[in-house]
Amino acid sequence: PSILLINGPNLNLLGTRQPEIYGTTTLADIESEAHKQADQLSLTLSTFQSNHEGAIVDRIHEARKKVDFIIINAGAYTHTSVAIRDALSGVEIPFVEIHISNVHKREPFRHHSYLSDIAVGVVAGLGTFGYTVSMQFAANYIGAK
Ligand code: DQA
Repeated sequence: PSILLINGPNLNLLGTRQPEIYGTTTLADIESEAHKQADQLSLTLSTFQSNHEGAIVDRIHEARKKVDFIIINAGAYTHTSVAIRDALSGVEIPFVEIHISNVHKREPFRHHSYLSDIAVGVVAGLGTFGYTVSMQFAANYIGAK
């Protein structure tokens, strides 16, 4: 079974970007923790980060028929991208939407997501621990199918 972890724009800056909101854990830390979990759960994990909407769309297409579950933090594209929504619908891969911060307690423009109503579930506000929880969930979800 295989999982794809996608991080969108600006998440490459984690660790130094607004640490009061996003904490001090880096993307490299998150990805290495996810790889550790994947090994323990006997899952194959691919990770991908891009600041470009089209590159994220392309990566989702590439996952078609190869990946069993996607964990995606689409960053700001969450609130703007019909294209990423359509890509996720198009490949029919179940996914969890994740946000490090609690987007509902922030600016109103972060309250709407183009992904939530087609996601299996949404994780927000748990900090980077949300990735750990999502990996565990993905393993259970794939195993239960
Ligand atoms: C985010 C929340 C988004 O609103 C923001 O644009 C991000 C990060 C989060 O993980 O909390 O880039 O997805």
